[in-house]
Amino acid sequence: MERRDFLLGMGIALVSASAYSFGNSLKPLIDENLGKTALIYGTRYGATEDTAKWIAKGIGDGVDILNIENINFEEVVDKYDKFIIGSGIWIDGAHKRLMELLSMHTEEMESKIIASFIVCGTTGEDEAGKGRIEGYFKRFHKPLAVKPKIQRHFGGRMIIEKLSEKDRKLLDNFYTKVLKKEFVSWDRTKPEMSEKFGVELLGEKIAIL
Ligand SMILES: Cc1cc2nc3c(=O)[nH]c(=O)nc-3n(C[C@H](O)[C@H](O)[C@H](O)COP(=O)(O)O)c2cc1C
Repeated sequence: MERRDFLLGMGIALVSASAYSFGNSLKPLIDENLGKTALIYGTRYGATEDTAKWIAKGIGDGVDILNIENINFEEVVDKYDKFIIGSGIWIDGAHKRLMELLSMHTEEMESKIIASFIVCGTTGEDEAGKGRIEGYFKRFHKPLAVKPKIQRHFGGRMIIEKLSEKDRKLLDNFYTKVLKKEFVSWDRTKPEMSEKFGVELLGEKIAIL
């Protein structure tokens, strides 16, 4: 082999070797970061679950969607670096098990919660509604000294035939006697708006990537 070819060959080998090792040194970083954000949601009738999935779609890869009813608290708290928490609102309150998670693991979680969202019937179109939504967030975040920087509320849904008998009776009474409104089914979920929120979160560089 000519000296020039030899040197050229060595050069190519060195470049490939360093590219290989650069690739390898990046790999654990990327792998580590993938799946390190958990979107944990609490739902009863499905609107919060749907909203969680639409938000995750906006974020893209790198977020695990977890139903609070199916997780082991310790495992999840250990595994993830960032959390997005979301809950439906029933009689003024968030999901009981999600509240338990926040109360039991406050210190490990509070600085890692990058966003929270609620799914409810209150629209926030008037001042009274805005105040009620603020109250829901306050109660939802009560265990946390550090509040999530980003908060968003979404419309939920209520399909009368899907409600448990107890909820149906309670709500029928509430609508007809307190609100003095006809008790009818409604759906205020917004797939596009929820997905857009996910895109916004990604734009906030929520350290998924
Ligand atoms: C029993 C019950 C109580 C509710 N209480 C409230 C409430 O206090 N405030 C509110 O804004 N929405 C209330 N809603 C509406 C829910 O927030 C809405 O249906 C939401 O979609 C629930 O989330 P999910 O579909 O994931 O269960 C209530 C719904 C039910 C079924």
